[in-house]
Amino acid sequence: MRLEMMTAPAAAAMIARSPGIIWPMGSTEQHGPHGLIGTDHLCAEAIARRFGAARGVLVAPTLAVGQSHFQLGFPGSLAIRPSTLMAIVADYLAAMEATGIRRLYILNGHGGNIAPVRSAVAEFHAARSFNRIDPASRIVVRLRSWWELPRTDALRKRLYGAAEGYHATPSEIAITQAAYPEAIGEFDAPPPPASHDMSDHAGDNYEEAASFRRAFPDGTVISHSALARRADGEALLAAAVEDLAEDYARFIAG
Ligand code: NI
Repeated sequence: MRLEMMTAPAAAAMIARSPGIIWPMGSTEQHGPHGLIGTDHLCAEAIARRFGAARGVLVAPTLAVGQSHFQLGFPGSLAIRPSTLMAIVADYLAAMEATGIRRLYILNGHGGNIAPVRSAVAEFHAARSFNRIDPASRIVVRLRSWWELPRTDALRKRLYGAAEGYHATPSEIAITQAAYPEAIGEFDAPPPPASHDMSDHAGDNYEEAASFRRAFPDGTVISHSALARRADGEALLAAAVEDLAEDYARFIAG
């Protein structure tokens, strides 16, 4: 149930019945020679919208640009600063709380967003602690990246193993193939890239854009994007919707 496609009375009735909402977020950044620039937000959005439509859950408008400054060496990438993302999250929390939302489930599709979002939520709580505010009703936040949902994580590792890598991953490319077949097809897979040390790249801990481009000239980070298949994307979407149903139900109940 997309919030922006509802009337205010209809939204009010839904919030009265269940005061929760899912907010998909991601990035708009290069995804190598095979992936769509919108891959990160398109994946989170596709999962959230499928889940919301199937289960009658509110879905907020997608935040499509994220903390991606390290991708600015590649044309087509956009970015907001960590402090900008924190400010956006702070405003969304306050606005949602003011209009009756009590459970905000952020479904993330971009590793670079994780640290600023966590910090923004911590700032939101800290302001209350320092001001000794103990509101009877307040918004509670959960942040999950789709690839860490358990069935989805197991499936992407089973499908692609070490070729999954960290950026322009075949699993995220496959989800876009399934969700947007008119925009992205399948590829002839070339041999996999040479193996790398896998340990340094989780969470998008990169420095500035010039060094990122030097380190990863084709824009991927150990990911063999061309292995992506539409059927895999459909299976990943189904697994993610199932995972999300369980995790969201626990979150609302908790
Ligand atoms: Ni991505």
